[in-house]
Amino acid sequence: MLKKSNEDWDFAGANIHYMTHGLHPYPARMIPQIARRLIERYSSSGDVVLDPFCGSGGVLVEATLTGRDSFGIDINPLACLLARVKTTPLNPKILMREWECLRGDIRRNLGLLHSKQLKVEIPDFSKTNISYWFKPYMIEELALIKKHLDEIKDDKIREFFYVCFSSTIRLVSGTRKGEFKLYRMPEDEWKKFRPDVFAVFERRVDESISKMGEFFEFVSKNNIKAKAEIFEADTSKLFTEEFPEEGRKKLFEESVNLIVTSPPYGDSHTTVAYGQFSRYSLIWLGYNRDRTLEIDKKSLGGQLKEKEINSKVLEETLEKIRNKGRAREVKSFFVDLNECLQKLYKVLIPKGYACFVLGNRTINGIKIPTDEIIIELGKSIGFELIEVIHRRIPSKRIPWKSSPTNIPGQKVETISRENIIILRKS
Ligand SMILES: C[S@@+](CC[C@H](N)C(=O)[O-])C[C@H]1O[C@@H](n2cnc3c(N)ncnc32)[C@H](O)[C@@H]1O
Repeated sequence: MLKKSNEDWDFAGANIHYMTHGLHPYPARMIPQIARRLIERYSSSGDVVLDPFCGSGGVLVEATLTGRDSFGIDINPLACLLARVKTTPLNPKILMREWECLRGDIRRNLGLLHSKQLKVEIPDFSKTNISYWFKPYMIEELALIKKHLDEIKDDKIREFFYVCFSSTIRLVSGTRKGEFKLYRMPEDEWKKFRPDVFAVFERRVDESISKMGEFFEFVSKNNIKAKAEIFEADTSKLFTEEFPEEGRKKLFEESVNLIVTSPPYGDSHTTVAYGQFSRYSLIWLGYNRDRTLEIDKKSLGGQLKEKEINSKVLEETLEKIRNKGRAREVKSFFVDLNECLQKLYKVLIPKGYACFVLGNRTINGIKIPTDEIIIELGKSIGFELIEVIHRRIPSKRIPWKSSPTNIPGQKVETISRENIIILRKS
């Protein structure tokens, strides 16, 4: 029997940007209040929490704040950078000191750049469409800022400033704000668009130091020793040679007390394009274009796969999808997800809980009941269903909207409800 919880899981009006949660946008984030409640309910202080699709690391931040060590896995290097920075407490006084020097140096060199007394080396952007997204003056100023950041000696401090730089990239580029896919603002708007790049960066740094300061203060005052570790990897490869060696040493069978995650809702091409979202941040941070293009291919459902999996609901759903190409994409996504679920079962301790927060998507008008499919797949692996909690997503916070025709910019609300599925290893 499924228990329907009477508790309020909507968290309408809750602040979701406190501490390091507010450092950088990322698509389809799990709100911290949900992560917190699940962690506190299904684990104890000192336990180990895993988020196998950790995105920007919201679950890991909450694990840290509640004194649990945690691990995150994500295929996307930008997600891993964000998760690392958000879970690494840095003393705001040290950040301020670094920032004072940086700010002065960058300002001085920007002056020289503007008066043509300085030339800045532009990174190799070959094969990218950089000039479609950034105007020449933006490219020069961003290149100058980046050069200064590269010179920061301390890895953790440098990564913190890279996160501020990445959010600046998003704000000054020609992408439509509030859009996860790469979609440029209308031509007349683009012509007039002339943000002060350094002023945007300064604002991002000031806000980010203040957010990091709140996190640092909480962790220090409460003497929190919990640590988060992030692996840039494919969760379906856990326990195999393809998974990073360091990760294999730490994520062995029965090494995790609790899993809390929001898996992707579907393949990246037709749902949330994490690769597209991250592309220009990553290119500016030095990743080559081909590597950024691989992200969506390596994500769940990124490549077509044919394999039998145990879900009647999935079979019935696939039959309803008339476009057989789309049906194959949906199937491939679940083949990959099933592979991940098998690995997650293995990594959990006996009686350990696995919590999945997800929405159901629609393809050509057909609802894909991801919640029911995960439950069926989970049961066939050995999980027991404990509870399904439904929550409404308060309207201003719908995590993603997608275009059923896949035409960028054409939005239809496809998810306004989320399901929280609690499974337990037998
Ligand atoms: C819904 S998002 C997670 C968002 C996260 N809960 C947050 O608050 O930021 C899903 C994540 O799964 C990642 N992903 C997709 N396929 C993956 C795979 N095979 N292995 C690991 N991560 C994957 C995507 O890069 C994306 O960051």
